[in-house]
Amino acid sequence: MEFVDLKAQYRHIRDRVDARIAKVLDHQRFILGPEVSELEQRLAARVAAKHCIACASGTDALLLALMAPEIGGGEGDEPDEVITSPFTFFATGEMITLAGARPVFVDIEPIGYNIDPEKIETAITPRTKAIMPVSLYGQAAEMDAINAIAARHGLAVIEDAAQSFGAHYRDAHSGNMSTIGCTSFFPAKPLGCYGDGGACFTNDDALAGAMEQLRNHGQQGRYRHTRIGINGRLDTLQAAVLLAKLDVFDEELTARAEIADRYTALLKDTVHTPRILPERTSAWAQYTIEVEDRASVESSLKGAGIPTAVHYPTPLHLQPVYAELAREMGWARGSFPVCERAADRVLSLPMHPYLTLPEIERVAEAVKSAVRGPVGVMNAALTQK
Ligand SMILES: Cc1ncc(COP(=O)(O)O)c(C=O)c1O
Repeated sequence: MEFVDLKAQYRHIRDRVDARIAKVLDHQRFILGPEVSELEQRLAARVAAKHCIACASGTDALLLALMAPEIGGGEGDEPDEVITSPFTFFATGEMITLAGARPVFVDIEPIGYNIDPEKIETAITPRTKAIMPVSLYGQAAEMDAINAIAARHGLAVIEDAAQSFGAHYRDAHSGNMSTIGCTSFFPAKPLGCYGDGGACFTNDDALAGAMEQLRNHGQQGRYRHTRIGINGRLDTLQAAVLLAKLDVFDEELTARAEIADRYTALLKDTVHTPRILPERTSAWAQYTIEVEDRASVESSLKGAGIPTAVHYPTPLHLQPVYAELAREMGWARGSFPVCERAADRVLSLPMHPYLTLPEIERVAEAVKSAVRGPVGVMNAALTQK
């Protein structure tokens, strides 16, 4: 069994993918070829955004989104500050730091695992320039509350929607719920390419123009550079793969949701199963349970031939590279208890649209037998929380 079965997906869409790739091989416009603009138009339309800027990775998307509004070094010795979640993939904090700004972590809420809006305001200082919520596991952060706080304080909101492209919050699409939204097309993501890829979305013409230049060495016209940018372009071949995959994306999202429901029906009396907050849909990038004794559950599942993953075992404020920042900010173990508890307990199960019912049942049975006994009973009580 695969954690994400890309081969099964390829078997399903081989003709579309091969035809799209063949077209690129025919025209040979590998850099910013026609498929890139076709993809940008289709993605923008999908999330109802005015602009989509495709780029080389989700990481680059975050960097471009910080560079465009010139968030970074700040004035004098003090860097700009960006408020974000400590419970995320490292790139979120990493790009804030790389842009020259300081990540300021705020604890998460325990249901969606996303930044807790009630704790944001106390973290705002005169140096705060943006809030960067992460829509983890496929479910949007509490964007209405976050946008309202940002509006009160004149801050930008940059959604890290790397895991949530395809999700909704009320009528809005993840990726287009803030100043800029950033997503990732890493192969294992709900919409993934065959290498690295990403995109930024915005309704702001000036930010869109800036990001378009920044992804291509700050060029404004050929060999005329008006900004310091990066080589952050999406390859035409990756755009071609994404165009083929977009054709089946809606049916894949439906399949993911059905698989998540089946897992939940089978597991809800045994472990803490994921919950989707009201007025939201999830892209189900991950199906993540919580267990008491994770190491033993992981090894028992491994023994049964079932791959699992932990997203993510070490919160950002406890990462070695942030030791100095943590000292400066007074962060230590215990600073963000909801995040730390989740980091100790979460376990992601195989999740992709081509999981079969017997496979889902096999995973569920293996989880049940792994947590049997007092731990299982405790976890069942937790599901009532
Ligand atoms: C929350 C989050 N942010 C950023 C990224 C970075 O995306 P990429 O791997 O495409 O650079 C990822 C990808 O794993 C992610 O999950």
